[in-house]
Parts: sequence; C-alpha cells; structure tokens
Amino acid sequence: MTTFLSGIQPSGRPHLGNYFGALRQHVAASRKAGEHFYFIADYHSLTTVSDADELRDSVRDLAATYLAIGLDPERAILFQQSRVPEVCEITWLLSCVTGMGLLERAHSYKDKVARGIKPSVGLFTYPILMSADIIAYDADVVPVGKDQVQHVEMAQDMVTHFNTRYGDVFKRPEYRLAENATMHKVLGLDGEKMSKSYGNDIWMFESGKKLKKRVGQIVTDSRPPEEPKDPDGLFLFDLLALFLEPSELGEWKEKVRVGGEGAPGYGHLKLRLMEAIEEHFTEARARYSELMADPAELDRLLTRGAERARERAVRVRDRAYAACGLR
Ligand code: TYM
Repeated sequence: MTTFLSGIQPSGRPHLGNYFGALRQHVAASRKAGEHFYFIADYHSLTTVSDADELRDSVRDLAATYLAIGLDPERAILFQQSRVPEVCEITWLLSCVTGMGLLERAHSYKDKVARGIKPSVGLFTYPILMSADIIAYDADVVPVGKDQVQHVEMAQDMVTHFNTRYGDVFKRPEYRLAENATMHKVLGLDGEKMSKSYGNDIWMFESGKKLKKRVGQIVTDSRPPEEPKDPDGLFLFDLLALFLEPSELGEWKEKVRVGGEGAPGYGHLKLRLMEAIEEHFTEARARYSELMADPAELDRLLTRGAERARERAVRVRDRAYAACGLR
C-alpha cells in the first residue's frame, strides 16, 4: 500500500500557491487508495513565527482549511507535527549522518538568507527535520510544490546515508508535483513565486473588497488595452489559467494578442480573476467559517489525528534506535 504524506507550515494563512501546488493534491490523493498523512508543520514555523497566539490560531486555521476543501479526517490522518515528538528523535539520528555541505546547498535556506532573514541553527537544519517528518511515517510519496522538491531529494540522500551505515531501516520517499505545470510554482502579485514570507500572496479565502484590493496590486505595465500584446509574457494569465476553462482562457488571450478597440485592459482581466477566485472557493469559504466557529472540535480532531500518527512514528523510531544501537 502506498503511503502519502505532506505538510504545510502554520505561518500566516494558506495562499493560492499552497492550494494549487499542494493542498488540492493532498485532498485529491486522499480520495484514492493508500494511507494518507497530512500535518501542520508547527515545529518548522518556529524558524519564522515568534508570536505564540498567532501560531496557535494558524494551526486551527490550517486544520479548518484542510477540512473545508474536502479532506476527510477518517480517510486521511490530519495532525499537528509537534504532537509527534518522535520526529525530533529521528531528526537527531539523521543529523548524525548528514554532512554540512548538503545543508549548505539548500536553495530555500540560501533564498531566505539572501532576503535578509538572520539564520538560526533551526533554519539551517530545517531540511533534516523535514526529512524526519517524511521518514517517520514510512512515506512513499510526498506531494509538494516545486520549491520543496530539493528538500525531498535531501531526504532521499539522508535515507541513503543512514541505510548505508545501519542497514535497510528507512524508506526512500519520492516527491510528486501537480499534473498541471502552472501549479508547480504559482506566482504572486509581483510575478515572483507566491510566498507568505515575500508578502506577495493572496489568501485562498480572501473575498470582497480585500480581494479586490489584493488583485488590484498584481503588477502590470502601462501599455493601453488596444496595443497588441503577447499574452504568454503576462503572468496575470498564469493566475487566470489556474481558474478558467482552457476555452475561456484562450478567448481572453486571443483578444489581448489582437488588441484594437474593445480589447480587454488589465482591469478587465483582474476583475475576471477576482470573480473566479470568489466563485472557486464559495463553498469551501462558507465551510471554513463554520469550522472556525468551533475550535474545540478542531482540537479534538487534531488530537485524534496525532494519536494515530504517533503509533506509526513510535514504531519507526524504535526500529531506527535498535538499528543504531540505542536499544
Ligand atoms: P510551505 O508551508 O511553505 O508550503 C506548503 C506547500 O505549498 C507549496 N507551495 C507552493 N506551490 C506552488 N506555488 C507556490 N507559490 C507555493 N508556495 C508553497 C509548497 O511546495 C508545499 O508543498 N517545508 C514545507 C513544510 C513541510 C513539509 C514536510 C512538506 C515540513 N515538513 C514534510 C512535505 C513533507 C514548507 O515550508 O511548506
């Protein structure tokens, strides 16, 4: 049986990139045969979030988001990372077989440092904790967005190093990207990768005036509507492609390519995007609000999820401890 696993950090609210790159895949995969583990990576968030209340709220927010978009907590095990402390024990085992050079090559670490974030040891060793997350549940497949691919490859390297030293202890995971390439790296308001830490994101459930404001901030140029343009050079179309049927998308692109009187301006395209976002999440947004109104129920679900997840992690931890002589 295939085991699927993935995680998301509770640092700010989940955005369209999280949804199309990951969460949507998680829900779709969980409807198919296999075992499914999805977790809220709160240990990881400590590398960037320092407000305790904010962290607590974000954990519930993500749990409600997963349920609102259709994750069935009976089919999939939904839990909070820190409720399974065995992950930290496995992190230590992996730390002892991982060279500094491997971590120094991590793009995500290098990007954060380049953007002025002062690195803690936790930020540096982040990929080891992430590898432990994956390995602790004997995961086979890890559905993620493109920015996390290197981290899953690092987990593969760590498994190889550990198993070479101690025998066939850990399973080797594979990453899986969304089928549609536009979803691998969803772009933000400025045309860079959409990211909570870059402040260029759109919250999945944003609506009304706030959504209008956010979409209005998508960077465009000052060319007039009538000027013919190459639509493939406009990243606004990458965002539209996430929501529109190919036929409708094609029609808009053609009008922009031809230009002339009556061609849509950037304002028109943004309006269409805004409507499409509102519409796509109508049901999920309503369900999310209902779920958020009952935090005790969310906590109950997460507690139950953690109990189920922990059973597996304890077994894997024991297997690894025995292999390396700690038991
Ligand atoms: P995080 O919280 O940054 O993102 C969660 C998921 O969303 C994907 N994603 C995107 N996909 C497409 N376009 C984007 N602009 C975009 N931004 C984010 C990410 O690729 C990810 O799949 N380190 C992880 C959390 C984690 C994890 C794990 C994931 C911790 N342990 C174990 C998998 C397995 C992270 O920071 O994701």
